Amino acid sequence: MQQLLGVNVDHVATLRQARYREDPDNFNAEPDPVEAAKVALAAGADSITIHVRGDRRHLQDADAIRMRQEIKAPINLELGNTKEMLDLALKVRPEFACIVPETREEVTTEGGLDAAGRFDELRETIETLQKEGIKVSLFIDPDPEQVEASAKLGAEMIELHTGAFANAQGVQRQEEIERLKAAAILGESLEIQVNAGHGINYDNLRELDQVPHLTELNIGHSIVSRAIFVGFAQAVREIRELMNAYPHAR
Ligand code: PXP
Repeated sequence: MQQLLGVNVDHVATLRQARYREDPDNFNAEPDPVEAAKVALAAGADSITIHVRGDRRHLQDADAIRMRQEIKAPINLELGNTKEMLDLALKVRPEFACIVPETREEVTTEGGLDAAGRFDELRETIETLQKEGIKVSLFIDPDPEQVEASAKLGAEMIELHTGAFANAQGVQRQEEIERLKAAAILGESLEIQVNAGHGINYDNLRELDQVPHLTELNIGHSIVSRAIFVGFAQAVREIRELMNAYPHAR
């Protein structure tokens, strides 16, 4: 099986919100993230990732609900561990829920979830989601302690935070790859599906070849950025082609 591509369409809504923040029901409001999801799937995406943040800075609740109504492919809903977002997840009923840390001030999700430190509160959320048939992923830094805690929590998946890798230069970059490798190998040995995401782009993607067991990559910002120049479908096709060379696909 080839490596799976999850396309994150949050940034399509970021563009819409730049103009229509005060007027989300305006029929002129564009671009439409649901339309982007459809184009991404037709161009080779396997699933769609969406994140309704607490401050609603990009996707709105209504986007998530319409996404579910109109998209038959798997949806991966990222959510902060709050009652509000849990309620939304139970309404949207995505196939996958990825629990992420979230603070209002950050520009994007900046660090991984502290699965080890927030064990009890996470356990409750995970159990509630799983009881409803929603598979759970935890977005964690590539640290052994976090991988082990995620497995103990019974999450079906982890998504390794690749932000530090994407930002690192030189020797540090290779160190980050080694961290990702070790975390992926540990995750696989604990029989948890290992995904990765954040900051992956058309250049750094090939370096992730070194990391085994990556079942799915979730990519957003770089695809939306490239889409400005080549169109959304072409941007997705290009990343899909790069991923097709992944040597560890099962
Ligand atoms: N995975 C998670 C959990 C994220 O929070 C994000 C950012 O929204 C991504 C993947 C995608 O990251 P990027 O937009 O940098 O590709």
